[in-house]
Amino acid sequence: MTEPVDARPRIVLGVGGGIAAYKACEVLRRLTESGHSVRVAPTEGALKFVGAATFEALSGQPVHADVFSDVPSVAHVKLGQEADLVVVAPATANLLAKAAHGLADDLLTNALLTARCPVLLVPAMHTEMWEHPATRANVALLRSRGVVVAEPASGRLTGKDTGKGRLPDPAEIVELARLLLERPDALPRDMEGLHVAISAGGTREPLDPVRFLGNRSSGRQGYALARVAAQRGARVTLVAAHTADLPAPAGVELERVGSAAELRDAMHWVGKDADVVVMAAAVADFRPVATTPHKIKKTDRDPDPVALTRNPDILAELVAARRARQVVVGFAAETGDDSTTVLEYGRAKLARKGCDWLVVNAVGDGKAFEVEDNGGWLLSANGGETPLPHGSKARLASALWDAVVSSLEV
Ligand code: CTP
Repeated sequence: MTEPVDARPRIVLGVGGGIAAYKACEVLRRLTESGHSVRVAPTEGALKFVGAATFEALSGQPVHADVFSDVPSVAHVKLGQEADLVVVAPATANLLAKAAHGLADDLLTNALLTARCPVLLVPAMHTEMWEHPATRANVALLRSRGVVVAEPASGRLTGKDTGKGRLPDPAEIVELARLLLERPDALPRDMEGLHVAISAGGTREPLDPVRFLGNRSSGRQGYALARVAAQRGARVTLVAAHTADLPAPAGVELERVGSAAELRDAMHWVGKDADVVVMAAAVADFRPVATTPHKIKKTDRDPDPVALTRNPDILAELVAARRARQVVVGFAAETGDDSTTVLEYGRAKLARKGCDWLVVNAVGDGKAFEVEDNGGWLLSANGGETPLPHGSKARLASALWDAVVSSLEV
């Protein structure tokens, strides 16, 4: 009997010797559970933080750090050659330096030299090390060769320090890995110097201290837009209304809001000096006429506690306030009906809102809301209509950024 062929995408997960090595276990678990075959290549330093047995149990594959184990299989060459993606998380300053200069003194650094697939290095180190000119030069060199060196997150570091240099959330690392498997060229550094303002999530319009009118938006699409833009080098301000439990994207300024009125104020404020403004939030079209300061009783009927009034159209306002060369992007979630298709509704909405681009998603029947994937069309004010193939929300984000960046280059 012949062995069944393993058709799963093959990932080499390199693990550097930093305290964040323990988070690599969560990255590994998420990758294997989402259908990837993962070989872990830790450094000797990583094995001081996490034992090989842990990586072997979670990956179901043997784990070595040196090139003298399993010599007959020539692992130091094959590992990189056969990979569809190499992810290194955490990548220490030492590992970045070795990768930049082609040193190959263990299994992982050998795999980095033999890999011809996309390579994602996810740094984690103290802020001083990340900002040191040596590290900056190594990162620049690696990026110039097409290696994706992710932006670290900011926050608590080892000990009492806080600052830039934290490993991004494992869910975020897995999202970037999936994006590179879908589209190896999805994360060029072509948004440096751009400031983008993005709204995400669903607004909540309070009726009383306990209740609100809300919607099913999870915020995933807006977060994916922010994450991908930051990893492409943009300065990103994310104005987040209510979302599912999502990790804050690394390298992004995050401002939380609640109601449509708060979102409106925040978007006008950050939109003032942004080059690109994206309204991915699901904004309530109506709000209660009044918010009752006490909890509404079922006997409270006069005045009607759910009487509604119209909210302003924030996207239309941002279009009206648009500066020269500022790009404004809207989203349209449509279901279509007997007389009008999703695309026809999208075209009409683009004309009505006056924005430069409109992403049209079909919703309903489990599509778009509260799910991982998305698809639809990208309509442009000059009549362009590009289908957005069904894929991850990060992939849709990178297609939108491609279009926006090329329109700014013209
Ligand atoms: N939007 C907005 N302000 C609102 C409502 C929507 O800025 N009060 C923005 C959304 O963020 C999105 C776009 O407008 O970018 C389209 O939102 P959508 O809910 O699809 O459209 P509506 O304007 O509500 O139009 P309709 O109810 O006719 O579908």
